[in-house]
Amino acid sequence: MPLVNMKHMLQHAYQHGYAVGAFEVVSIEFLDGIVMAAEKARAPVILSLAESHFDYFDFNLMMPAVEAAAERAEVPVAIHFDHGRCLDSAVKGINKGCNSIFVDNSHLDFVMNIRKTKQVVDLASACGIAVEGELGCIPGVEGEGAEHYPGELAYTSVAEAKAYVERTGVDFLAVSVGTIHGGMKGKPKLDYQRLKQINEALNMPLVVHGGTGLSDDQYHRLISNGVAKINCYTALSDVASKQIKEHAKSVNIKNFAGLMNDIKRAVSSEVERCMRLWGSAGRAAEVLTRCAAWGSAEHLIMFNISSLDKTAVDTIMAEGEHVLSSIPGVREVFSGKAIKEAAKYHYTWRVRFCHSALVASYQEHPDYVAFTNKLFRSVVEDKITINFQTVDSAHSKYPIAHVAHPHVMP
Ligand code: 13P
Repeated sequence: MPLVNMKHMLQHAYQHGYAVGAFEVVSIEFLDGIVMAAEKARAPVILSLAESHFDYFDFNLMMPAVEAAAERAEVPVAIHFDHGRCLDSAVKGINKGCNSIFVDNSHLDFVMNIRKTKQVVDLASACGIAVEGELGCIPGVEGEGAEHYPGELAYTSVAEAKAYVERTGVDFLAVSVGTIHGGMKGKPKLDYQRLKQINEALNMPLVVHGGTGLSDDQYHRLISNGVAKINCYTALSDVASKQIKEHAKSVNIKNFAGLMNDIKRAVSSEVERCMRLWGSAGRAAEVLTRCAAWGSAEHLIMFNISSLDKTAVDTIMAEGEHVLSSIPGVREVFSGKAIKEAAKYHYTWRVRFCHSALVASYQEHPDYVAFTNKLFRSVVEDKITINFQTVDSAHSKYPIAHVAHPHVMP
């Protein structure tokens, strides 16, 4: 199961002087193409889903495919929720299976950016999820030319970056040093001196948004100054659009499925080019041995209630399912009744968590406490509860380190 902890993945990249590509997924062809490239290049990879793209696809439908692709991949994969709009977006990303979250508060003033980002960190860290923050303003829109969305670039200040990381506790910082989202207008001028100072002050993985359209030398200088994650979408959108336009002009237009396959191949070849350029190619095996596997967990409750009639028990079961599934980090609640009357336990809730970190905190959640005190505790009998975490059945195939503190962590 090469879905891995993104903190460990980026820590490895940071310490070994390369960058992992975070490629935006907007369709199944993109997803397929990105994973295909990662497996070919033997590279760790981040599958990134930006809330600004949710008009193009249904996030709830896409996430099971993204998770399935990550879990069957032969290389380490992390799933990142990109450019979330608010705290509810973070909850949505976590509950659907992302193991890294970015809520974009960079348009707010410094104090508000800190306040809002700290709320995301508090929520996500209780769920074991990594958080990216952004300071400074990176203008533009992914997939669009800079001339349509000029915007004002605000560089990240070194002093503010230090205070921001200390006060929010983010795991990675996206910095504004001259890149923009979308197609560049003219030649981008990057402020390496500023980046170097931020890196020296923070000593943590840095992120570059607007990863399309730089020269080989610019990428290398960003990476040698602490950039461990490069976000990329426009380059993939461009090669996919070019492919469609060429097919549309061709007299031998292939069928729909063939056209989609060619898009996958075009995306894959661009992703592979980036992986080789950014130094992540060939790192998969090493990363797998240094990263903790991403393990989800389940809480099983089995019980009897004999003092109430069927309607009253059904009400408690429905209320329990509603309360438990509303706790952030709870991905799914299965409510069940025993099929056989003679069963030892007649009722169950099986609660699926995004990560085993949540097992410790969820029973202290105020909604959980209120529900058990008001409705459950006084009527339940013979209750047993067990916490389970996923067994990594692929462990022998992919030697992922099962350690609380892998040795890449400081
Ligand atoms: P580009 O669209 O410029 O590649 O940037 C993507 C990005 O930064 C997503 O967060």
